[in-house]
Amino acid sequence: MKIVLGVTGGIAAYKAALLLRLFTEEGHDVTVVPTDNALRFVGAPTWEALSGKPIQTDVWSNITDVPHVRIGQEADLVVVAPATADLLARAATGLANDLLTNVLLTARCPIVLAPAMHTEMWDHPATVANVATLRARGVTVVEPDSGRLTGKGTGPGRLPEPERIHDEALAAAHAGASSGAGASNAAGPLAGRRVIVTSGGTREPLDPVRFLGNRSSGKQGHAIADVAARRGAQVTLLSANSAEPVPAGVTCIRVGSALELQEAVTSRAHEADVIVMAAAVADFRPKHYVDAKIKKTHDPADPDAAPTVELVRNPDILAGLVADRGHAPSPIIVGFAAETGDANKSVLEHGREKLARKGCDVLVVNEVGVDTTFGQDENTVHVLQRDSDDEIVAGPANKHVIAGVVWDVVGTLLPKA
Ligand code: C5P
Repeated sequence: MKIVLGVTGGIAAYKAALLLRLFTEEGHDVTVVPTDNALRFVGAPTWEALSGKPIQTDVWSNITDVPHVRIGQEADLVVVAPATADLLARAATGLANDLLTNVLLTARCPIVLAPAMHTEMWDHPATVANVATLRARGVTVVEPDSGRLTGKGTGPGRLPEPERIHDEALAAAHAGASSGAGASNAAGPLAGRRVIVTSGGTREPLDPVRFLGNRSSGKQGHAIADVAARRGAQVTLLSANSAEPVPAGVTCIRVGSALELQEAVTSRAHEADVIVMAAAVADFRPKHYVDAKIKKTHDPADPDAAPTVELVRNPDILAGLVADRGHAPSPIIVGFAAETGDANKSVLEHGREKLARKGCDVLVVNEVGVDTTFGQDENTVHVLQRDSDDEIVAGPANKHVIAGVVWDVVGTLLPKA
């Protein structure tokens, strides 16, 4: 792969040398494009020796080679690490005042920016708006780590370790992530397909301030929606209480409870070619919703008095979609199963049983523990299919890579367009 590694002027530039090594040792052809300020931190000989190529920072050298256009056009992936607040601002507004920003404007491949700066700069509304603009265009902006910064400061803004940037960059390349130039993927493998993805976790209201919820972050579901859009699908994301950003090009409808999610998905199911039920839907909800906040009582005779909450079953939305579909081949329905093994059965045995019980076409099974799946960036899954004994194992890998595997499987089930 032809990778452009942009480096901007921050102390974390030294970590980009290690990132460069990770790429070159895998055989990628890397062109380093530092800014002038990056060279104040790590000099040209380091980049030239590690990449095996000369570097330049401006658009006034090698004019006959037209580097300000060629480097971006030829790239398969552009990664900028570290990306300073200044670079984010220039990229968001489309400035082209050095070679790196010219590359960002001419590239049509996935672009991944790994910011590093002080917490105050990262939290500043200007930077927040620039990151939102870039993400809305489809540029991948890696979340910085929290930790020791230059000087005595600690907090969010630290450049992630090279291994994480490397993994997220390759995941974006694998998913066919966007350059942010707005080119639609009309030739993608899911072009013309209408897709509904549910994501996040439902909240079952008890009173105006309380609910029963779950730990689902929505990361996997949003990644499923993101990859579908990047592959050309028309995607509606039904997002239940997720704080994840809405992927570029995706129509997002917010829902709260399981009943709201049921209404949102069943009313649209007839328009869909594929429905992916990645949301964690509560199996139970409080039987009674209390209009006013439930108060503590202050009875000295019974100081520990507490109410009992009665629960009722929620509808199984997935099973309902399968039943409504009847014998029609469409939509293809994909379920998710968060499973734990027990003394009697393995995670996979539970998964096979669930696939048979639910009747969906594909079941994505992951093994969960409090710290292993929810809210994490990585996941390991087993993808089971109703009409096949094949079991595809994916991961541990970035949730975008997992999403790519799920869409690869679904792609084999779709009727020819
Ligand atoms: O039965 P279980 O909750 O493990 O099944 C998980 C799958 O079923 C997920 O795809 C989830 O979105 C869906 N589900 C549902 N309605 C429920 C519970 C789960 O659609 N009430």
